[in-house]
Amino acid sequence: MSGMLEAVKEMPNHIRDALWRIESARLGPMEAPAAIICGMGGSAIGGELAAAALGDRVSRPLLTVRGYQLPSWSPAGSAVLCSSYSGNTEETLAGYAAAEALGAQRLVATTGGKLAEQARSDGVPVIGLPAGLRPRAAVAYMVCAAAEVAALSLAAPRIATELDAAASHLTERRDAIAERALSLAEEVGDATPVIYGSDLTAPIAYRWKCQVNENAKLPAFSGVLPEADHNELESWAGASDCGSFACLLLDDRDQHPRERQRIQLTADLIGSSASAVARVEADGETRIARLFELVMLGDLLSLHLAERRGVDPSAMPRIDELKDRLGPPGSASQG
Ligand code: F6R
Repeated sequence: MSGMLEAVKEMPNHIRDALWRIESARLGPMEAPAAIICGMGGSAIGGELAAAALGDRVSRPLLTVRGYQLPSWSPAGSAVLCSSYSGNTEETLAGYAAAEALGAQRLVATTGGKLAEQARSDGVPVIGLPAGLRPRAAVAYMVCAAAEVAALSLAAPRIATELDAAASHLTERRDAIAERALSLAEEVGDATPVIYGSDLTAPIAYRWKCQVNENAKLPAFSGVLPEADHNELESWAGASDCGSFACLLLDDRDQHPRERQRIQLTADLIGSSASAVARVEADGETRIARLFELVMLGDLLSLHLAERRGVDPSAMPRIDELKDRLGPPGSASQG
């Protein structure tokens, strides 16, 4: 499974190292009307995961923006974290420039690249990340950086202590998580995973989908309850006409009681239309501990699916080719 498996197993240490790096960056306060995390792919998901873990402790807008622009309504003076593992993602570089135009207070999380260069020449603080990982394997760093910008901007309380405890929880649960990942991979088999989450688990479902896409090179889909109960639920009637789909539902004890009931009913109703239906729930004390447990489980599941198919989870030939063919910003399309 290349270095990807080691990187996933190192997640507890990534959390601890991220906290240390954030402290070492000696960041000043950034009180702001809103906190925005700009990034793409593996560097964006940390923003949504952090916001989900913070839950109803968020007291000011805290949002993740993927793309070239900030929302037109972004308040001037917002705290903007530009998060790019490589530091060379053009959308994030465009977000960095848009944040300057907005008069935002900027912060950067990266290993280097153009983003680090620009931040250093602009005097923008940088949370330096360790090189040598695939961006999606640096998810713990991105969650910690996003939680920090939420705290600095006063959008939410600081959760560094909970993050540290989550690292210990992950270490304790690592073997059980690995076992569950293997049994889930067997249940999914050759089917296409369709993953549902709600509240805390909504962005985790999306993370699982993306990890299956990038690591196992397989289509996968994710949805959010209760919304999916108002449309997508019907689609399962035709599922077996177009393939084999495994339904994975991510429970969490903090979900609204009606959301919990909906997960149960959705599982029942999908039942025989899916090749497998599995429900998963983490048992950590805090939301952030449960979130990391499920993130690690999904990462390991995707690696098992990659192994079953004999594909290299690290390689991303299509994404690399697309970036090559797109050329540098401002260049004409190469067809
Ligand atoms: C690669 C991955 C991608 C990247 C994305 C943005 O492992 O997960 O989704 O995260 O292409 O690149 P970075 O993170 O370098 O800004």
